[in-house]
Amino acid sequence: MRTTILVTGGAGYIGAHIVLELLKAGYSVVVLDNFSNSSKQSILRVNRLAKKTATIVEGSISDRECLYKIFGAYEVSAVLHLAGLKAVGESSKEPLRYYQNNFSGTLVLCEAMDKFNIKNIVFSSSATVYGEPDKIPITECSQTGNTTNPYGTSKYMVERVLSDLCAADSGWSSVVLRYFNPVGAHKSGLIGEDPKGTPCNLVPYLLQVAVGKQTELKVYGNDYPTADGTGVRDYIHVVDLAKGHLMALKLIEDKAPFGIDVINLGTGRGYSVLEIIDAFQKETLQSIPFRYTDRRPGDIAACFADPEYAYKRLNWRAKLKLEDMVRDAWRWQSKNPNGYN
Ligand code: NAD
Ligand code: UFG
Repeated sequence: MRTTILVTGGAGYIGAHIVLELLKAGYSVVVLDNFSNSSKQSILRVNRLAKKTATIVEGSISDRECLYKIFGAYEVSAVLHLAGLKAVGESSKEPLRYYQNNFSGTLVLCEAMDKFNIKNIVFSSSATVYGEPDKIPITECSQTGNTTNPYGTSKYMVERVLSDLCAADSGWSSVVLRYFNPVGAHKSGLIGEDPKGTPCNLVPYLLQVAVGKQTELKVYGNDYPTADGTGVRDYIHVVDLAKGHLMALKLIEDKAPFGIDVINLGTGRGYSVLEIIDAFQKETLQSIPFRYTDRRPGDIAACFADPEYAYKRLNWRAKLKLEDMVRDAWRWQSKNPNGYN
């Protein structure tokens, strides 16, 4: 019987939290990561926390031979596919690298899976595929494809490929998970987000202000049509998100083959930038100096999920609150001011 889960990009921020949940639930796990945006340390710490061992393979999803070796050596039942480059701004400067890695790499992965008759995949997509939403909360039926950068387009293109693959071969099952804004860290403070260089996202930047690596937070715009004028997003605790992946695997175990299923992973609640700063200051007693600047190009005013389909299909809901997100993020950052180094 096939019993192993392959997690591509498993050493990254979200991947490490998923691998921990998988090990705790008794799965055998192989992590394939080229460490372009992570280090082995994350998985070594996950192994320590779980008191179990995930196998680490250093390599790329674009490397056919490497995939053949993995699929030949392990009884892989499903692939959780997280590997990808994710910096929105960088993707506009280096579109070919993003399409090569995220899109072409996924084609190589799917071809190799097909060859070994492994036809179950859970794909890390993003709310970014919705572009500027026509209405909020965003359901899975909302229009997609109006993406504003190559990163988002690469996610949209992979979704299309998976849809066509499932239409062409009824043996395939794909669960496309559209994440909203993952934040926070495992409560141990041992694993968390470790961005390379200056962070682009709100919470990692705010954490660096709190530890004194950045002097102030720039709030990108206070003239949006939101309650306080700042951008609103659906922040979801990374541990809740990780648990959503286990429920997606359970769906595959119970119901495959079922073709493609697309599911939002969010809380259904939006918070503004000012609410995030406020919650962080209250929870951690750290002060966050900030100033308003112009809007960041490409940003939308507000975006949050309709999480009902995830509940119906996966029996999953986000449980952790904003206070948990900021407290756990701070525990990780304050215990590891230099990340995994
Ligand atoms: P991350 O950068 O921490 O993790 C991605 C991992 O993939 C890294 O460990 C990196 O080294 C690895 N990787 C990249 N290219 C690879 C390749 N060709 N072969 C093997 N490994 C490769 O990012 P994350 O935040 O953990 O995101 C995980 C996934 O979720 C990504 O696909 C990302 O696009 C998606 N996602 C993230 C967010 C977010 O805000 N963090 C939101 C929506 C979707
Ligand atoms: N923001 C600031 N200052 C900062 C960083 C962000 O004010 O220094 C604001 C943004 O304008 C936005 C909010 O904080 O209103 C959240 O911004 P993030 O950069 O943290 O997140 P985004 O919603 O822009 O995008 C993130 C990921 C995408 C992913 C998307 C999914 O970066 O990859 O969530 O919803 F697709």
